[in-house]
Order: sequence, then C-alpha cells, then structure tokens
Amino acid sequence: MLEQLDQLYRESLETLRAAGSTAGLEAWYRQALGRKGQVTLITRQVGQLSPEERPAFGKRVNEIKNELEAAYEARLAELQAAELEAQLAADSLDVTLPGRRPWRGRLHPSTQTLREIYRIWGDMGFQIYRSRDVETDEYNFELLNIPQDHPARDMWDTFYTTTPGVLLRTHTSPGQIHAMRQYCPEPIRVILPGMCYRYEQITARSEIQFHQVEGLAVGRNITLADLKGTLADFARRMFGAERQVRFRANYFPFTEPSAEMDVECHLCQGAGCQLCKYSGWLEILGCGMVHPTVLRNGGYDPAVYSGFAFGMGPERIAMLKYGIEDIRYFWGNDLRFLEQF
Ligand code: DAH
Repeated sequence: MLEQLDQLYRESLETLRAAGSTAGLEAWYRQALGRKGQVTLITRQVGQLSPEERPAFGKRVNEIKNELEAAYEARLAELQAAELEAQLAADSLDVTLPGRRPWRGRLHPSTQTLREIYRIWGDMGFQIYRSRDVETDEYNFELLNIPQDHPARDMWDTFYTTTPGVLLRTHTSPGQIHAMRQYCPEPIRVILPGMCYRYEQITARSEIQFHQVEGLAVGRNITLADLKGTLADFARRMFGAERQVRFRANYFPFTEPSAEMDVECHLCQGAGCQLCKYSGWLEILGCGMVHPTVLRNGGYDPAVYSGFAFGMGPERIAMLKYGIEDIRYFWGNDLRFLEQF
C-alpha cells in the first residue's frame, strides 16, 4: 500500500510539472487533491490495513499531501507570473510616446469682445440687463419716440413676424424701456447686450444679425459731461490709456442731443491709414442724453430725472481691433477664421 502511495506521489508530481497553464493546474488540483481526487481516494483505503500498518500509512499520506500542496502553490506562482508577463507583452503600451493633443474649442471672437466689454462696464458699476429678441413695434419704435410713419424708421429695416405688431428687435434700445419700467423710480446703471436683426442685403459691411451693447444711466443729476467722461473712460479701457476720443453731433429719435463717438485710430495713432480711411478716427458708438419723451415712457419725470444712453456694435469693434475686413466672417462658421482668435 505504501508502495502504491509513493507511486501516486511521483506520478502526481510529474503531471503537475506538465501543467502549462493556471487552468490546467486547477484541473490537476481537483484530480489529485480534490474531494474526489486520487490522494483522497487512496486515503480511504486505510480501512484495509492492519492496525499496526495504519500509523505509518497515515503519516506518509499527510507528508505527501503537504508536499503536493506546496508544489502546487509554487507552480501556481510560476504560471501566474508567466501569464502576466505574456499579457503585458501582448498589449504593450509605450508610455514614453507623446500623447495626441485633444481638439480644444475656443470662444467666438464676438463672445471674446462681448466679455471684454462686460468686464469694463462691470468695473465701472454697470449691471447687465437682458431683454427679449422678439419685440413689439411699441417697444422697438413707439416708446423710443419713433412713431408710425416717422421718417427715422428708415434707419431700421425690420423683420416682421406673421403676428401683427411683433418683430425681431432691430436694436437693443427697447431694453431701455423695459429696464426703466422695472426700476423706476430708482437710479439706473445698466448695459443691455443682445442680438439684433435687420432686413438688409448681406454685404462685407452689413449683416442681417449682429450684437449690440446698449448702455443706460438714469438719475437726478446726470449731465452731458457724465456721458462724455464715462464713454471716454470706456474707450481708454478698451483701446488703450493714451487713446483720444471725439464726439460728433448726430441724430437719434430717442436722445437729445445725440452724438457719435470716434476713437483715435489705434493702428496709425491718428496719423491716417487704410483702416481709418486716412481720417485718423474710428467711429465706435452712438450716444446721447435720453429724450424727455423716452424718460416719461419709462416712468421717470423728465423735470426731475435725466440720463444718458449709448449703443455700440461688438462685431464692429472686433473688426476695428483685429483688422477684420468682412463682417460675414462672423457667422460664416469657417474654422480658418475662427481659429485665429
Ligand atoms: N439704437 C441705435 C442703433 O441701433 C444705437 C444707439 C444710438 C443707441 C444712440 C443709443 C443711443 O442708446 O443713445 O443704431
């Protein structure tokens, strides 16, 4: 019987060494040391032995079991290491290769310019007030002192909707009325940014949609000097501390007096170049003292309150700043253009 035991031991060791994978090794374990394995089965034969033979047999069985267990553990470690090695070699990853740069989006030049404008006006104490893109004729024109059939309506070619009296705003000025009606009788200092729409032939100089940033200050003692000082300060913050500005008289129905503001051309320092058409100046906004009728329409008594307002085009400012010669690039979605900013 001991003879048989040793034979089994030798054979088991041999088949163990032959196991080439962890899966094969598990099969071997079940075969040799499992509950129905060969070693277990042979142990059960102990009953056939005489009482004197039993202790020696039992001892030997235990030795063999322990040795096979140990041999199994050793082989398992060996195979696992080899398998890991093979797996690493198979899906090799070269961590020293330079990575692929992900595509990064960037802000649209209009957005960049708008944010710059918000920052400057924010620093100067102006809050952002948002109003709707779809307006009524009343807000877009009437309340801004542009009655039906007024010749000034020619300044704004309008997209009308199928609903009578409802249109796409042609400028951000109707937001002035919304802000005044909301805040009256408090003093106001807001900018009103937003998209505007005009029924126009699209050319290098005009688009059917574009942004405007409107500004409005209303209070008890606001004068033309405040208008000039505030807008000159804006120009210096936007275009450089040394920048000169000038105001030219103009006409807008909702302001009196009205003006346009030019900044000294930043390209030629006012000497005259192609950008400023050899005038030395770039026109950047319209402005004026809020018309008494408009103040009244907003709820403010023009005998007590006064205010100034202005309107500028961020695309126009970006064109001047970056020397962009065609406004159609802004909504053309050409990456070659957009990636330059
Ligand atoms: N709303 C004018 C436009 O679209 C721009 C403008 C001019 C706005 C003068 C103002 C202003 O608030 O005072 O052309």
